[in-house]
Amino acid sequence: MTNRILVVGKTSQLGQSLQKLVGQAYHKQALRLCERSEAISLAGYDFSFVGRDTLDLANPSAIDAFFTHHRFDVVINCAAYTNVDQAELEPELANQINYLAVKQLAKWAKLHKSFLIHISSDYVFDGTATRPYLESDLPNPINCYGQSKLKSEQACLFINPRGVIIRTSWLFSEFGHNFVKTMLRLGVMRETLAVVSDQLGSPTYATDLAQAVLSVIAHTAKSASSNMEIYHFTNAGVCSWYDFAQAIFELKAIDCQLKPITSEDYAAIAKRPAYTELNNAKIMRLPGLLRRPWQEALTECLTEINHVNPSTTTQ
Ligand SMILES: NC(=O)c1ccc[n+]([C@@H]2O[C@H](COP(=O)([O-])OP(=O)(O)OC[C@H]3O[C@@H](n4cnc5c(N)ncnc54)[C@H](OP(=O)(O)O)[C@@H]3O)[C@@H](O)[C@H]2O)c1
Repeated sequence: MTNRILVVGKTSQLGQSLQKLVGQAYHKQALRLCERSEAISLAGYDFSFVGRDTLDLANPSAIDAFFTHHRFDVVINCAAYTNVDQAELEPELANQINYLAVKQLAKWAKLHKSFLIHISSDYVFDGTATRPYLESDLPNPINCYGQSKLKSEQACLFINPRGVIIRTSWLFSEFGHNFVKTMLRLGVMRETLAVVSDQLGSPTYATDLAQAVLSVIAHTAKSASSNMEIYHFTNAGVCSWYDFAQAIFELKAIDCQLKPITSEDYAAIAKRPAYTELNNAKIMRLPGLLRRPWQEALTECLTEINHVNPSTTTQ
C-alpha cells in the first residue's frame, strides 16, 4: 500500500532538503546519508511538495478547501513565518502562519487520521538554562516568533493527532536564506565584520534534519500510538554566531577580520535567547538516526553550496 506524504513549504530550507533526499533515495532505492547511517527505504512512499501558491497558510479558507479535497497519510509542515525580527512588526501575520494555520493542519490531521510532523524552534525557550534543554522543560519565549511557535506546539498537543513536533535550531543549508550564505556573501565584500558572540546555540544542517524527519516517518509514522510528542533534533555541539562565522571563514579561507560584539551592540529588533542548546537524547533513541557535529555538517554544506551556486564565494 502506498503512503501519501504531503510536504508543506516546498521552498523552505527543510522542504528543499527533503526534496533532495527523496530524489536521492529514489535514485538509489534507499536513503543512506553516510556510511554510518542506517539505510531508510522510501519504497511505498509517494511525496507531494506544495508551496504557498497551492496552500497559502495566511488564508484559512484556502487551507480548509485544500484538505477537503486532499487526504494524506503523513503531513510534514516545513512552512513558517521565520523572519524573527519582522515578526515583531507583523505579529498577527506571524501568528496566523505559525499558530492558527498549524492549528488547522492539526485539526485536519486528526480528522483524516494523518500523521503530522510539525517543526518548531529552540526560540520557545528563554535561554536562561545552564544545561541543554529537555523536551519537558518549561518554554518561555521572549519574542513574537517564539511565542507563535509555542502556541503552535500547544495547539498540536491539545488537538492531539498522531504525530510529532520536532524542535530544531539555527538551520543552515545550500537552499534559501541563512547565516552561512550571508557570511559567505559579506565575507568577500567586507574587510571586517562584527558578529554576535553572546548567543549560544547548535547550528543544524537542514539535510540532517530532513534525514531525522524521514527516520521518524520510517520508524514511527505507521505505529498506532495516538499521542503527539515533542522531540529535539539539532547537529551536535554548541557555539556562538561569532564561532560559527569563524568556522565558515576558516573552511572557505575567506580573509575577513571578525569582531565579536554583544547582542546589545547589535541591537536587533527582536530579543533572542542567550543559550538554546537542545538535549537530543530522546530522538536518538529512535533506531538508525545520524547526528553529527555541526562542523562536519557545515563542511558538507559548503561543498553543496558550491554545487548549487558556484558563484556564491567568488563574487
Ligand atoms: N531557520 C531557522 O534557523 C530555524 C530555527 C529553528 C526552527 N526553524 C523552523 O524550521 C522550519 C523550517 O524552517 P526553514 O528555515 O527551512 O524555513 P524557510 O527557509 O525560512 O522557509 C519558510 C517557508 O515558509 C513558507 N511560507 C511562509 N509564509 C507562507 C504562507 N503564507 N503560506 C505557505 N507557505 C508559507 C515559505 O514560502 P515562500 O517561499 O513562498 O515564502 C517558505 O517555504 C520552520 O518551522 C521554522 O520555524 C527554523
